[in-house]
Amino acid sequence: MPCSSGLGMCSRFIYIPVQFIFLCNFDTLGMAKTQTTFFCKNCGASSAKWIGKCPSCNEWNTYVEEVIQKEKTTFQKTWKKENPQGRTLKPVLIDEVEKGSEQRYPVKDIELSRVLGGGIVPGSVILIGGEPGIGKSTLMLQIALQFTNKKVLYISGEESDTQIKMRAERLPFKNKECYLFTEISTQRIGKALQELEPDIVIIDSIQTLQSELIDSTPGSISQIKETAGDMIRFAKETGTPVFLIGHITKDGTLAGPKLLEHMVDTVLQFEGDRHHVYRILRTTKNRFGSTSEIGIYEMQSGGLREVSNPSEILISQRDENLSGVAISATIEGARPLLIETQALVSSAVYGTPQRNSNGYDTKRLNMLLAILEKKCGLRMGMQDVFVNIAGGLRVEDPGIDLGVVAAIVSSYENVPLDSKIAFIGEVGLSGEVRAVSRIEQRIAEAEKLGFTTLYISRYNKITSSPKSIKLIPVTRLEELLQLLFG
Ligand code: TYD
Ligand code: MG
Repeated sequence: MPCSSGLGMCSRFIYIPVQFIFLCNFDTLGMAKTQTTFFCKNCGASSAKWIGKCPSCNEWNTYVEEVIQKEKTTFQKTWKKENPQGRTLKPVLIDEVEKGSEQRYPVKDIELSRVLGGGIVPGSVILIGGEPGIGKSTLMLQIALQFTNKKVLYISGEESDTQIKMRAERLPFKNKECYLFTEISTQRIGKALQELEPDIVIIDSIQTLQSELIDSTPGSISQIKETAGDMIRFAKETGTPVFLIGHITKDGTLAGPKLLEHMVDTVLQFEGDRHHVYRILRTTKNRFGSTSEIGIYEMQSGGLREVSNPSEILISQRDENLSGVAISATIEGARPLLIETQALVSSAVYGTPQRNSNGYDTKRLNMLLAILEKKCGLRMGMQDVFVNIAGGLRVEDPGIDLGVVAAIVSSYENVPLDSKIAFIGEVGLSGEVRAVSRIEQRIAEAEKLGFTTLYISRYNKITSSPKSIKLIPVTRLEELLQLLFG
């Protein structure tokens, strides 16, 4: 095609001396200086140009471009309040460090207190993640209102003061020293923190915060890195605990760089099925306590209620014995729980039988069905099988396999199981019943709830036999089915 202006084609061949390019400053030409950097979505590493594979975390295709621009203003540099525990300015010998018991802020909410390892450590940063609508804001507002004699600052970038007030009115708690601040700029938040000097800070959510130093939009990797860094610095320098609420992505991981999880002291996951009322608060990282604790809540019209005896609510109340229901003793975190497995087995109407499970791994369900077919001679190949864990709980503990099998066979045979029987055991591929961890705790929980018979693996060594519960050890699945269904 002929060149219309005659310049477009020719300009490609114009020779520009290299020296001129170096001397030519865009600022002097009056052009806006836009700095962009590429960030890895997974680990937060940055690079001046796009790269396919992150050299830091080896993930592929995780780099995204973001605009960054540093200005001269900064986040609050000094604080009136200094960390009471004080940071040492020079290296010290470990033996010379005073032991002293770590002072923790007691929390009235027993579930949260247990999950945190016994209260809030001053200067700690706690990230709480969960799906939208699961109740993160409700939980944190409730925690803020439960403190007495503590100045709490609840910073929200998502809701207005009146919306938060309306939510607070539904909750049965009152804290005269709970302040609200609807703001997203960390610079302005820094000023407010300097003036108010709160004892506890809650940020809802980290994805809405924006640092004026950076041009990119709130929720972008560079903003999350910068704003979380600012809040962490505030927490460490003043000894004020900070809660950060974080959104999660579609695949269930916290939105933003993985780095965020490395930066904070504690990561809590608030999970549950939105259609059910139960919520679980789980620790996935805790620098000041165990990660095996869980807290259980029930969402009510007046906020979240702590559930101190979860087993009682997870087992449905029923008068008559129904087929397809079996109780298993499991361990969630460090807590023993009794859960109810419901199964429905019916002849497949369509060619391919359906296998569906709620709260239990479908692949594991298929494996159990194959074992029942091969080892116990049950014709599962032509049956639709549905399994559901009551209460909307998701259980990954293989120790409930035995209970799942019992529920399936009970439905298949249409024979109800006695409601005072519970099961503990993992099922191996050759149909053997394998030992499970923390068997004593599970037995004690079943005993506490009035169960009379417990089927367990023969390979589990029991040191002290319980008084009011009969233990029936089994080695293989066939043996269990023989005992239950003859
Ligand atoms: P919310 O805390 O806004 O969730 P998140 O911050 O995780 O997005 O919780 C919203 C849900 O909780 C909403 O569906 C209403 C419900 N809810 C109650 O059932 N009872 C209550 O007392 C409150 C405050 C909320
Ligand atoms: Mg919210």
